[in-house]
Amino acid sequence: MFDTKSGKWTAAIATALCIGLSAATAVFVGAHAATSLEAGDDALIAKSLATMLRAGRTVISRNQDKINDSKLGDKGLDGKTVVAEAVKIYRETSGIDPASIEPNSLHGKLLRLEMDAIVEVLDGHQQTINRQGVGFKGFIPAVFGRQVSEAFGRRAVGLAEMKVTAPPKLVRNPKARADDWEGAVINDKLMLATWPKDQSFSELAKSKGKDAYRTAMPEYYGATCLSCHGSPAGEIDITGYPKEGAKVGDLGGVISITLYR
Ligand code: HEC
Repeated sequence: MFDTKSGKWTAAIATALCIGLSAATAVFVGAHAATSLEAGDDALIAKSLATMLRAGRTVISRNQDKINDSKLGDKGLDGKTVVAEAVKIYRETSGIDPASIEPNSLHGKLLRLEMDAIVEVLDGHQQTINRQGVGFKGFIPAVFGRQVSEAFGRRAVGLAEMKVTAPPKLVRNPKARADDWEGAVINDKLMLATWPKDQSFSELAKSKGKDAYRTAMPEYYGATCLSCHGSPAGEIDITGYPKEGAKVGDLGGVISITLYR
């Protein structure tokens, strides 16, 4: 078990085994119970933050044609509207209403910071989104996702970080480059042919020298991604980047969530 105060792995499980309990039962005994339950909370929080990010990207994706419409002025996609739509999708996918998550809990706090980040990004792009006479404006789910992650990171300093990264040869924006931990998890786990589809990987690891509960969630290319990330490799897509030659089902990216302890 991991002790948040000393930052060291403790022998609680070994002790439990010595006194004849299973490791699973050890969760409920002794002074380390809180720590173990926290790890469960962390897993839930990481999943929740990723669900909200995905919900937000879905809102942008569903409205992409509207955003790209050169004739339409006000698109009606301000921060408040988009976050409300994202909350609806979050509720549909998870069965949980974000508003019901206790605001003073770490989970409630981080989820609200993420929702604030979504509002910040949308409100900051109103001029671009509502510009007439321009079709494609570069405001796509990937850009939204990166900027929400960055805005979230600024709000959650010392508590959490979020990033959408990708296998090294696919990274377009240098800001999305994997760090050592993410790179190793992508290479040694998520890229394996035997890795179960959609299975995320979590562990206690360092991030920027600090102890953290880290999660990497794989994302795969679908057909709609290939107009930009597909074939022929090297051809310039609508955003100005060379296509990667990817295929449906390839590992396209990883949502990386860091929860500091
Ligand atoms: C309209 C073209 C376009 C489409 C469609 C598209 N992407 Fe991208 N993608 C981009 C651009 C441009 C970036 C870089 C954005 C930035 O500046 O951060 C990017 C970045 C990414 C990243 C972050 C890592 C990086 O390379 O910077 C991932 C992961 C990703 N895309 C996956 C996908 C997936 C999965 C889909 C389909 C669900 C998809 N993309 C659809 C253009 C596209």
